[in-house]
Amino acid sequence: MQQRVEAAAPAVTERIDNATGRLRMRRLRQNDWTRRLVRETCIGADDLIWPIFVREGGGEPQPVSSMPGVMRYSVEGCADAARRAADLGIPVIALFPYTDATKRDAFGTEGLNPDNLVCRATRAIKAAVPEIGILCDVALDPYTSHGHDGVMIGERIDNDATIERLCQQALVQAEAGCDIVGPSDMMDGRVAAIRYALDEAGLRDTMIMSYAAKYASAFYGPFRDAVGSTLKGDKRTYQMDYGNSDEAIREAAQDIAEGADMIMVKPGMPYLDIVSRLSREFGVPTFAYQTSGEYAMIMAAAQNGWIDGDRAMMESLAAFKRAGAAGVLSYFSPRVAESLRRG
Ligand code: PBG
Repeated sequence: MQQRVEAAAPAVTERIDNATGRLRMRRLRQNDWTRRLVRETCIGADDLIWPIFVREGGGEPQPVSSMPGVMRYSVEGCADAARRAADLGIPVIALFPYTDATKRDAFGTEGLNPDNLVCRATRAIKAAVPEIGILCDVALDPYTSHGHDGVMIGERIDNDATIERLCQQALVQAEAGCDIVGPSDMMDGRVAAIRYALDEAGLRDTMIMSYAAKYASAFYGPFRDAVGSTLKGDKRTYQMDYGNSDEAIREAAQDIAEGADMIMVKPGMPYLDIVSRLSREFGVPTFAYQTSGEYAMIMAAAQNGWIDGDRAMMESLAAFKRAGAAGVLSYFSPRVAESLRRG
């Protein structure tokens, strides 16, 4: 295959002058093996966190219409999903509840119930698949009648009244066996308050992955459908403005100072610049959340035959690693892990 070009050796000075001209970037792209040899980053099963939805009742998993391929599982079904994830080498599963409307109220009380769906699913997974990590979201929105992440007083989300409840929510989740709590509410000071509450209760090993830079985004649409959100309006008084980047640095610095073990950026793909900045600035394990909207876009285009879904999936996940992410929360996780297994 190697082609030899016969040429008279030029004078040494000319060789030096021409050095850059002789650099051919394509040499290293010739073969599959050269490409593999020089590849800087790649995604592996170890980098994946799989978010799943849990619902009341038994029976088969039920599909979420706006997220083709994504299911809502019974508590028992969550344990089966966790078994599948562990067998594929996925280290962590993240739980989100679809709470019955009758259990939602203005204060998100059900979120503090030690027997709520998330706590029951956590116990079921820990009993059946003890080797997998469990991440639980800390925010009141799956439990509030208005769909906001915090307690509303009049038209305002009250920061400090919300934090008190978030601490109790984190406690019931940790006591059920959750390994990582993920405050996704964007209240100020919640990481310190949760760390303090966990330590006081003797739960010193429970980790905190804070949603440090979470933007008010249109990409959460299908998720709100999956958890049956009743939200009207938006979350712009607590989630970040998408025009801002320096603010993400301040948010992350604050969460790290308050005791976050890991930080997260959300959404993912439209915010790779933020992932890159935070991971380089702090050197703290930084995760990206490939949101429901990002998932739905890739799936919809693939189903229309407009893109190759498998390739777009792998490319989108590799991009997070290239940007500096330690790992990715993705609804594609089991499919990615299966694809990596096949090679
Ligand atoms: C709740 C929460 C949301 C997501 C994760 N946790 C929605 C929101 O903030 O409205 C979004 C996940 C996704 O879109 O995949 N605080």
